[in-house]
Amino acid sequence: MDNSLIIFNEIANKLLADEEQNPVSEFISSDELFDQLDIDLSDNPIDEERFKKALEDLVLKTPKTATRAFFNQLFGGRNSKAVLGDLLAVMLNNSMYTYKAAGPQVGVEKVVIAKVCEIIGWNGNSGGTFATGGSMTNFMAMLMARDYANPSIRDEGMVNQHLTIYTSIESHYSMPKNASFSGIGRNNVRNIGTDNLGRIDVQELKLKIEEDIALGKKPALVNLTAGTTVLGAFDPIEEIALLCKEYNIWLHVDGAYCGSVIFSNKYKHLLKGLEKVDSFSFNAHKMIGTPLTCSLIMVKNKENLYDSFTNEASYLYQTDRDEFNLGKTSLQCGRRNDALKFWTLWKSVGTKGLEKIVNKQFELADVARNYIKNNDDYTSYGIENSISICFNYKGIPAQKLCTELYKESKLLVGYGLFQENEFIRLVTINAQNNPEDIISFFKTLEGFVEYHMNQISVAAEF
Ligand SMILES: Cc1ncc(COP(=O)(O)O)c(C=O)c1O
Repeated sequence: MDNSLIIFNEIANKLLADEEQNPVSEFISSDELFDQLDIDLSDNPIDEERFKKALEDLVLKTPKTATRAFFNQLFGGRNSKAVLGDLLAVMLNNSMYTYKAAGPQVGVEKVVIAKVCEIIGWNGNSGGTFATGGSMTNFMAMLMARDYANPSIRDEGMVNQHLTIYTSIESHYSMPKNASFSGIGRNNVRNIGTDNLGRIDVQELKLKIEEDIALGKKPALVNLTAGTTVLGAFDPIEEIALLCKEYNIWLHVDGAYCGSVIFSNKYKHLLKGLEKVDSFSFNAHKMIGTPLTCSLIMVKNKENLYDSFTNEASYLYQTDRDEFNLGKTSLQCGRRNDALKFWTLWKSVGTKGLEKIVNKQFELADVARNYIKNNDDYTSYGIENSISICFNYKGIPAQKLCTELYKESKLLVGYGLFQENEFIRLVTINAQNNPEDIISFFKTLEGFVEYHMNQISVAAEF
């Protein structure tokens, strides 16, 4: 192990130095990947020097997600205390299903879950677990909703159930995918329209639910989004919670992207009414900035977790109470320890530190929004109270500009679509960035466009 730790340190230090010099790694087209890097596997071992070189090249040529030039997805940056926790989780290599196998790490996970439930405003009946990502926590919510609608499905399967699901057209693509996994079926997902700010249309939702009931369907789940993937919009919870109560429908809030606003006194109003929902999920690897993945699902009544996910296994559960054998409420059997990285961060900075992380992202978003507002070359497509900044520059097609910036290793940023407008989506999720880094993003983009305008003279050809 010693030598591997030395190699780790060497390569990690080279990566950190390289990130400063080259915040975007050199573009390698997928056509050339296997020619450019020593990735191939062979029958025989290779010598240590060649191994080190292959590994170092691979690391240094991999897209850099922790730098001031990565704005492409809904994660970014590197939080050192969280990295420390994750590295130790790898060294420990526990599996979280039993107390026997994970010991005090079970306590770590339980404390994190309990604290989040307390922040939501739930009592001791609440609970939660970790899963491999926001798609999977949404899946867990859908399974609990399905089983709540009809507990016999767990044993009998989906026989003439006619269950229906409601989610906005701006919600994450895991909803239809999970509908197919759960047996509910993609065709039974009702895609509800939104207002001009990307929030679910409450009237349309009500109408669709009532229509389905009249047709003999059984509405099982309403999914709301706290931070839609493109615009970062927050669906209204309070009014819809009343509706779901009236019709006895499971209400889930998918906060994978921006659910972490629960930690911010300034922004938690965006989740007003959260305590009334049945389940809530969020990704600490997004706004909180832990390494991937760190996805939590919380449930107001933990019995629902047990009802949907418990299965006896005498070869596994041999000691301790269910409460400490976390496999009893988990989607998986073997499960990596995703709680430790969140705990190391939380323990070191406190809840107030988590709040600072969240607030910083909104401050950076304001810097970006103001920059766009004060510069006529930009057209804004974004909304307030969001960390997704959506815009176009000089009418240049977003797709083309983002792809050229990527191919020339200038910036990693993506594009999105809302109401037929395509635009660049800058995500200010990296709380290690400072206002200068956001301004530098715009200056880099402008310099790049200017350079190419001089080369080819018309923006349309870009
Ligand atoms: C709103 C929303 N829900 C769910 C997900 C899926 O999360 P994951 O990528 O962890 O599966 C995302 C991912 O961006 C998201 O934006």
